[in-house]
Amino acid sequence: MEIILADVRGFCGGVKRAVKMAFDNAAKGVYSYGDLVHNEFVVKELEKKGVLTIDDTNIENSKVIIRSHGVHKKILDKLEEKNNEIINCVCPKVEKVYNIVDNFYKKGYNIVIIGNNKHPEVIGINSRCNDSATIISNLEDIKIPEGKTLIVSQTTNNVDFFEKAINIIKDISKDEVLVYNTICNATFKRQESIRNLSKKVDAVIVLGGKKSSNTKKLAEIAKLNCKNVFLIQSINDIDLNIFKKFNKIGITAGASTPESVIKEAVCRMENFDKGEMMEAIDNSFKRI
Ligand code: F3S
Repeated sequence: MEIILADVRGFCGGVKRAVKMAFDNAAKGVYSYGDLVHNEFVVKELEKKGVLTIDDTNIENSKVIIRSHGVHKKILDKLEEKNNEIINCVCPKVEKVYNIVDNFYKKGYNIVIIGNNKHPEVIGINSRCNDSATIISNLEDIKIPEGKTLIVSQTTNNVDFFEKAINIIKDISKDEVLVYNTICNATFKRQESIRNLSKKVDAVIVLGGKKSSNTKKLAEIAKLNCKNVFLIQSINDIDLNIFKKFNKIGITAGASTPESVIKEAVCRMENFDKGEMMEAIDNSFKRI
């Protein structure tokens, strides 16, 4: 069995920064609004340091960490009104999308966001134009309002999906359409890497949190080239016997998956493979 790691995988710059800031500030009495990143191992480690995750704005006079993918502006305002100190771990690339949207909304553009309408990042971006954006989550029935339009993307979107949506909008729009491709480079590189790797292997393991958008996109891309794709949080979530029939196995990980989870997966796969080989040698001795 050959195990091949995607050359670009795991923590992106934004997540690394957020995790470092959160751990630097971690202490009892510090709160995180929502999961810092969509990975339960990271969230549990923070909890061990005393950081409690909250999902309301009742907290007062405390330190509150704002997650890497951001929050609705009203949440931020309420937390500040209640005299909380904000530890802003929002990725600068997400902040950049806020600024673009805010700027063009004030200039009278309709805002279109291509992304998942339930994802906190998209909800946060939409709040920068007074929740007025048209959000495009699938390619069927795309409708946009009349007038000049600015389009941005969820930073972790699938590049192909974004491009298809843009082409449809340009076809149906009679007015000016301005496009900012705000898919972050880290997302793009991870997608390219798994696109290439998935063509060369018999099975792909994608490691990442259940709620992680970018992890799901990696699995979707891998499935285009490989029939056997397994999206799991940790290698302990799967029966390794499934992999006996495969020769080459690719491993990648979402942008919020810690390196320790990747190392553990590689280590367990390699040990499993060695165990299999030992068993095969034992059996051949028995036959002699
Ligand atoms: Fe930021 Fe891109 Fe990571 S937007 S959080 S660097 S996936």
